[in-house]
Amino acid sequence: MNTTTKQTDTKQAETAAGRAAGGAWGGSNPVAVISGASQGLGLALARGLAERGWSLVIDARTADRLAAVRAELAELTTVVALPGDVTDDAHRADLAEAASELGGASLLVNNASSLGGSPMPTLAAFPLEALAETFAVNVVAPLALTQLLLPQLRQHGGEVVNISSDAAVEPYEGWGGYGASKAALDHASAILGLEESQVRVWAVDPGDLRTQMHQDAFPGEDISDLPLPETVVPGFLRLIDERRPSGRYQASDLLPRGRVAEVAEASEASEASGLEVA
Ligand SMILES: NC(=O)c1ccc[n+]([C@@H]2O[C@H](COP(=O)([O-])OP(=O)(O)OC[C@H]3O[C@@H](n4cnc5c(N)ncnc54)[C@H](OP(=O)(O)O)[C@@H]3O)[C@@H](O)[C@H]2O)c1
Repeated sequence: MNTTTKQTDTKQAETAAGRAAGGAWGGSNPVAVISGASQGLGLALARGLAERGWSLVIDARTADRLAAVRAELAELTTVVALPGDVTDDAHRADLAEAASELGGASLLVNNASSLGGSPMPTLAAFPLEALAETFAVNVVAPLALTQLLLPQLRQHGGEVVNISSDAAVEPYEGWGGYGASKAALDHASAILGLEESQVRVWAVDPGDLRTQMHQDAFPGEDISDLPLPETVVPGFLRLIDERRPSGRYQASDLLPRGRVAEVAEASEASEASGLEVA
């Protein structure tokens, strides 16, 4: 067992150390719930955690793509894959129940997200239905799933990772709906972190990544020079291993030096081609 974790709270320290050692903890593998894990960052995180022996509960709306991911990851670990929309009450209840049946969640990654449209509308022209949907997916659903899982997370001294964005902090034209929703998620994360003494709550900006969502934000643009989501996974794993205090983090700040240089190089190339936001 890794003994580098500060011994401030015996149970929580044991939890982190057990995870760092590869997942064996309390006689069974820790359980992570990841929304939107059929592609992009969610899939990369699911792979990273599965390789360390975490049991997974994952979702996405498109059933066949999710089933393919389940088949891949089931070679490594226990995976419950439930197709559905995070805005659906019954679906979220199923996710929480599945986590409970596996022993209870130690980690929730609220990753599934909506851009609000492609191309993204300006605020002056933002259809209100799309705006409400953006907030429903990006703010209300993560909080609702967190509410359901908090009893499990508290019991395990667990963690919530809310996937944020640069657009939560920087005002970019055309990013009003998505950016405002991510800013709301950041603020809710910060308050939840104060309210929950047994659970770490992290809002994490992953940086610009080569994913379908990024492509949808820049339809027709070449995003092939952006870093793949896999490149930032070590940053998330470090956050979990070290059980950093609740707060807002940038994945690039948590990466080993060599990896930072790699990601920065790819980001510079993308800025040069005019793709600055995600
Ligand atoms: N890519 C970037 O450059 C970037 C930058 C900053 C932040 N982020 C954030 O990173 C996270 C992941 O984004 P990504 O780029 O990896 O996106 P992505 O490649 O488009 O993947 C999104 C995943 O979420 C699922 N999903 C979407 N809406 C859902 C819903 N309502 N219910 C359940 N699952 C849903 C998708 O599957 P289905 O479509 O089948 O449901 C898919 O599995 C998001 O929170 C995003 O805001 C991304």
